[in-house]
Amino acid sequence: MMEKSFVMMKPDTIQRRLMGKVLSRFEEKGLQIVAVKMMHISPGLAQEHYGEHCERPFFNDLVEYITSSAVLAMVIQGDDCISMIRKMVGATNPKEADLGTIRGDYALDTGRNIIHASDSPQSAEREIALFFQDSEICDYSMPD
Ligand code: CMP
Repeated sequence: MMEKSFVMMKPDTIQRRLMGKVLSRFEEKGLQIVAVKMMHISPGLAQEHYGEHCERPFFNDLVEYITSSAVLAMVIQGDDCISMIRKMVGATNPKEADLGTIRGDYALDTGRNIIHASDSPQSAEREIALFFQDSEICDYSMPD
């Protein structure tokens, strides 16, 4: 089924100049980037986006980190892409992420795991709506 996922490159990815490499992986896989926005996340948006973690001990650090510098928010589209992108991203703890995954190849620390991706169709819908207006999502065809 055609799906859209919300994917966000975290501050480290941008500061370490890894944006292009990470973006290329999604393009090379055949997924379609349909929206991209570089932005500073406000504390309110960060708290809402990560609302499910609000009771966790790392919540304040997470909000502080994700608001500390620019992020690259994206919508990526493709056939069953939500679970595919999670597979490409790898485990939350980069030390447990398989080599060949984005976190497995580029990160060492759970708090600095360089990328976020929606974990379900419900999260994808919620997260896309938090970050993008419908009019910011581009509908374009790909040549065969
Ligand atoms: P992400 O996929 O963006 O979703 C929640 C984030 O919380 C997660 O990636 C991590 O970057 C961050 N985090 C920090 N500490 C922890 C932890 N102990 N367990 C899970 N997530 C953590």
